Amino acid sequence: MKLSDNKATLSFSKGGSSIELPVYHGSIGPDVIDIRKLYAQTGMFTYDPGFLSTAATQSAITYIDGDKGELLYRGYPIEQLAVNCDYLETCYLLLYGELPNPGQKKDFTDRVTMHTMVNEQMQFFLRGFRRDAHPMAIMTGLVGALSAFYHDSTDINNPKHREVAAIRLIAKMPTLVAMAYKYTIGQPYMYPRNDLSYAGNFLHMMFATPCADYKVNPVLERAIDRIFTLHADHEQNASTSTVRLCGSSGTNPFAAIAAGVACLWGPAHGGANEAALNMLEDIQKNGGVDKIGEFIKQVKDKNSGVKLMGFGHRVYKNYDPRAKLMQQTCDEVLKELGLENDPLFKLAKALEKIALEDEYFVSRKLYPNVDFYSGIVQRAIGIPVPLFTAVFALARTVGWIAQLNEMIGDPEYKIGRPRQLFTGAEKRDVKTIDKR
Ligand code: SDX
Repeated sequence: MKLSDNKATLSFSKGGSSIELPVYHGSIGPDVIDIRKLYAQTGMFTYDPGFLSTAATQSAITYIDGDKGELLYRGYPIEQLAVNCDYLETCYLLLYGELPNPGQKKDFTDRVTMHTMVNEQMQFFLRGFRRDAHPMAIMTGLVGALSAFYHDSTDINNPKHREVAAIRLIAKMPTLVAMAYKYTIGQPYMYPRNDLSYAGNFLHMMFATPCADYKVNPVLERAIDRIFTLHADHEQNASTSTVRLCGSSGTNPFAAIAAGVACLWGPAHGGANEAALNMLEDIQKNGGVDKIGEFIKQVKDKNSGVKLMGFGHRVYKNYDPRAKLMQQTCDEVLKELGLENDPLFKLAKALEKIALEDEYFVSRKLYPNVDFYSGIVQRAIGIPVPLFTAVFALARTVGWIAQLNEMIGDPEYKIGRPRQLFTGAEKRDVKTIDKR
């Protein structure tokens, strides 16, 4: 970041000396006012619950322009990456800052492939869960449990150790998600296959059984690979900020990523794809397209507590570019599977059209986000609704690791420790119980 010749001056209406705060700018996007010395100079904190106006870090990985609806991974537009690259090329880009050449891609792919198996002991963790456990409860446990196998070989201050942990996590997430799925349906786990692509291997582990050959459908393989790319990273979202804060204590990367999985589960965040699909199914059950007006009325009634899941975003005040790409992917998959008339897809497109013409959504700049269509395409591929967020976690693991490694690799980083505005009881003495 570069010091700007612009300065911020803070003065107080009740007098006292004003202070000057430096302003920094990055390569693109808003400048920042450096308040690191504010408390020392004024004895006051800033107040920004939800971090609407707070940059918690500097980063060179992902840039979002919410007004333009633009998403760049290391400067490359998501629209170009989703068409010209596959997920492992995108992983390489996010981790190392440049797209791989053919030799680098082969080496990276081979390294990931060699780490796709998990320790045989991992299957015994699953046995502790009920068969109907939510996959995200299982994933939070399994990813955290990886620490038990690698904790002693992960010195996060050693860049080589950090890189191996990154490869291990990217490689093992599809295996763990598929195991979580197989466990809930009582089918045997399928071991990863080194002769399949990253996406093809995931489909094989999910849908193959030991009883018959399974042929990967190339259209579905390409679609799931693109879904991974669209979810790979997204600046300082809630789960990425969780991973950074957790990792800032020096804990091992597996524990930090497990914290990210737990945060992503929330319906306001990664859990929205599951919630959006359930919302569409409810509308469909209660009358479908004819009932959209009634549903929108409920959403606009604050007391209903009903939100249009898959709509709205803290940063995008325009169409989420990932939602457009997800809709295209949806089209391709439904056509390939002969489901062009899928009622939920038609319902989603009708709901989007009505919402985008409604003053309530227009005035609040609420547009479809990545979660609005992702459930429909995953369901068409055969992924069960409760597993959608686990697939999101699989794809986002590379973003979490890239952001974590960027933080740990910065010699200036400190443990994150926000302060507060205290509004509780002032100091008082304890009365013994006979006097209470
Ligand atoms: C993801 O941060 C990221 O980058 C996340 C993500 C990523 O890749 O990591 O992009 C992934 O989490 C996408 C978002 C998925 N969540 C949902 O689809 C859940 C539904 N969306 C909302 O919960 C909401 O839009 C948020 C949480 C996404 C954003 O909330 P904000 O920025 O805190 O905005 P807000 O809740 O203050 O809403 C502003 C207004 C409010 O109305 P008013 O009080 O001004 O009258 O818009 C309304 C809200 O009530 N509103 C909605 C709405 N979203 C916001 N009303 C109805 N339906 C919605 N979906």
